[in-house]
Amino acid sequence: MTAVSRLVGCVVHALDTVDSTQTVLARLASEGAPEGTVVTARHQTGGRGRRGRCWWDAPGQSLLMSVLLRPPIPAAHAPQLSLVAGLAVADALGTATGVEARIRWPNDVLVDRRKICGVLPEAVSNPDGRVRHVLLGMGINVGQEEFPDGLRAHATSLRLATGVAHDQGRILAVLLEALGGRYREWLAGGFAGVRDEWRRRAGTLGERVRTPDGREGVAMDVAEDGALLVDAGEGALTRVVSWAWATGP
Ligand code: BTN
Repeated sequence: MTAVSRLVGCVVHALDTVDSTQTVLARLASEGAPEGTVVTARHQTGGRGRRGRCWWDAPGQSLLMSVLLRPPIPAAHAPQLSLVAGLAVADALGTATGVEARIRWPNDVLVDRRKICGVLPEAVSNPDGRVRHVLLGMGINVGQEEFPDGLRAHATSLRLATGVAHDQGRILAVLLEALGGRYREWLAGGFAGVRDEWRRRAGTLGERVRTPDGREGVAMDVAEDGALLVDAGEGALTRVVSWAWATGP
């Protein structure tokens, strides 16, 4: 029998209330924590979303976690990891609960066209242009039965989508397995290796989108490097890349 060690989740710090699991994990990363280290929390007082937004949670109702990865790759390849994470979440939610999750590029995970999970990738690069580490932050709505006014129309939870309660520990275990598997696939074959699966689960392709510089068009495909290819009526397709670089340590 071959024992396969758990790459993602080799060490799990399960905390109660934190500012942000990203902040806690950034500190652990700078202290040399091993790849695959995970921080979870029951509640965040300063949960962060993409593009500087806040991430709301009801204490105990969300799976709030950050995963430390140290991929041996050039910084330019890092944005692909964001899509890989979204795919792993969609896989895991299907396996653990049977929901049919779709991915809105780059990595929002939706059920019934409402957001059930957000992914915040934050990376630090070395002066040689290679990745030092990536913090993959994920917030999954598990047990919420209602959302605050501003979120109600756009958000859902596993509880609301399936009508039954779900065990967060099981979802975490399935997700760590799925993320480890997709991460290994990506390390071996790049985004091209998992692109067909991503497309199969994509909710964005064929829909009208607005690019960060304000152009409107139709999302046609996702490129080998994870960029979204948008037909904005200008002949060549417009490439859109989504990623956030943090500053050291
Ligand atoms: C998004 O804007 O869609 C991304 C949301 C990411 C939220 C998660 S919750 C756990 C981790 N810690 C944070 O502060 N943010 C991420």
